[in-house]
Amino acid sequence: MSRIFVASRNAKKLAEMERILAPLMPDVVVVGLDDVAFYDEPVEDAPTFEGNALLKARAGFAATGLPTVSDDSGLCVDALNGMPGVLSARWSGQPRGSTLGQDKRNNTLLLDQLLDVPDERRTGYFICAVAFVWPGADGIEQSLVVEGRMTGRVLREERGASGFGYDPLFEPDATPGRTSAELSVEEKDAVSHRGQALREIVPRIAAALS
Ligand code: IMP
Repeated sequence: MSRIFVASRNAKKLAEMERILAPLMPDVVVVGLDDVAFYDEPVEDAPTFEGNALLKARAGFAATGLPTVSDDSGLCVDALNGMPGVLSARWSGQPRGSTLGQDKRNNTLLLDQLLDVPDERRTGYFICAVAFVWPGADGIEQSLVVEGRMTGRVLREERGASGFGYDPLFEPDATPGRTSAELSVEEKDAVSHRGQALREIVPRIAAALS
């Protein structure tokens, strides 16, 4: 059995990644943070999702020597010129306290910023860049990145209790009338930016590991 390291400190995001990957890669053991001796998540200071995903996957590979998958994701709102974008996780300031508290502060700030924006202009998308870094046949580091997107719009109040982050505010185009926090995990994975990106990268991971 091959082993891959999934490098993320966000527990809910990690759970999504593990549950999407597990059935697609039954022959691969997914190793999480708890299973490795030391992994210091790097500062995400690249200007793009792709750059940040690569940065995290490279750091994971350097720390563990294992082929590593990492994602960088966020919400891009058209009326805010694509923001929060790569700043999605820390839109309301440096994360402090619980993840739940941070999500709440981010959502409240986003609602404030969009207060005067009419319904037809509240469009946007979630994006997820997934990077895979592995040692090539010659031992030289190889990498690839893919992207998935989920289009939709930002509502005026939170709805739903599943998912994480901006899910309670976001109504995907694919699920009219329901936010992504009102979907079952299977429904979210089927349409989500993360589900799309991971399904695209799995065959390429399999090819790289074979
Ligand atoms: P990062 O990829 O760890 O930098 O953080 C991504 C941030 O984007 C999260 O903390 C959430 O605020 C937001 N985000 C990314 N994916 C999702 C999602 O599937 N649902 C809701 N929020 C998300």
